[in-house]
Amino acid sequence: MNIQSPATSHDELHAEIAGQFDTTAMATESTLLNPRFYTTDFDEMDRIDVTPVRADWDALIAQMRSDPNRGHFKKNADWDKVDWEGMDPALRKEFIDFLVSSCTAEFSGCVLYKEMKRRGTNPDICELFSFMSRDEARHAGFINDALREAGVAVNLGFLTKAKKYTYFRPKFIYYATYLSEKIGYARYITIFRHLEANPDQRFHPIFKWFKEWCNDEFSHGEAFALLMKTDPRLTQSFVNKLWIRFFLTAVYSTMWVRDHARPEFHKALGVDIEWYDQEVFRKTSIIARQIFPVELDIDHPRWLPNLRKMDKAMRRMEAGRKAGGIGGWFTRMGGTLSALTAFAALYLIPVRKTKVPANPRLQPAF
Ligand SMILES: [Fe+2]
Ligand SMILES: [Fe+2]
Repeated sequence: MNIQSPATSHDELHAEIAGQFDTTAMATESTLLNPRFYTTDFDEMDRIDVTPVRADWDALIAQMRSDPNRGHFKKNADWDKVDWEGMDPALRKEFIDFLVSSCTAEFSGCVLYKEMKRRGTNPDICELFSFMSRDEARHAGFINDALREAGVAVNLGFLTKAKKYTYFRPKFIYYATYLSEKIGYARYITIFRHLEANPDQRFHPIFKWFKEWCNDEFSHGEAFALLMKTDPRLTQSFVNKLWIRFFLTAVYSTMWVRDHARPEFHKALGVDIEWYDQEVFRKTSIIARQIFPVELDIDHPRWLPNLRKMDKAMRRMEAGRKAGGIGGWFTRMGGTLSALTAFAALYLIPVRKTKVPANPRLQPAF
């Protein structure tokens, strides 16, 4: 037997990549940083009355009904051949992780929106959620097509059954989902614009699809802004302002830690992670002025140092979890304590007050 066979066949390499990644298990895993699946009080959401925002609502729904991206999520001649085998293994690992995480996040939206549509009786709500679940299904499916080419597609049907669902009351769904839609827009458009200027760094064709894609996310965010606008207490009461501040801090810092776990991926794109994250926060904050009465001060001297501290703390928690035993426990607890301190420090940075306009509607402008 020649164990030093110089040429491994294409199929063998393909199988080797597939053997390294159990993407369905990756997507099913519940960790602090993995995208989650949500469930909520669907009856309460079904009772929303969109009358106070009717004109804007109808315009937005008409735009979604016209389905401008109907033909967009299909591979065409722009989909260049991907050299999975030739890709640097460290980059391949992080890129697959990125795709799995994005696919899970898209599919999480799809599952939640579809469930709302299925359980609802309110025609306005049902129609909105059916359009949004249609879009998210396309997004998740398109990413999964890219994973399938590497032989590592996620089993989405299995995921629906096996993944743990986190319950959030409706107002928390609005804050979290609104933010994740707008941050999704900001992330996709920032990468798209960067690669538009630096096409040599586009190491995979999927990035070419990001522009139209992010417009879907932008509209989804618009819908949640209108939903929040139907009840001024959601964004104006003292307690809810504190919740908004909490969600902003949690969503931004989670993104920071997640992105810093993928240094090779960002290096290949030619993107400095700190620059990219701050840029995404900046865009998201500008957009969120449409509805949130406060925004985080991301230029505050305590902002970046505590994000870096949070990232280090999360790594320590992870190292402790992997090590196990009593030593691992101490490492994990030390990390947890440090992460909580960093989070508190971020949360306590004085926020900036925004001037929320009477009419929230925006167009994607980045
Ligand atoms: Fe999406
Ligand atoms: Fe979306």
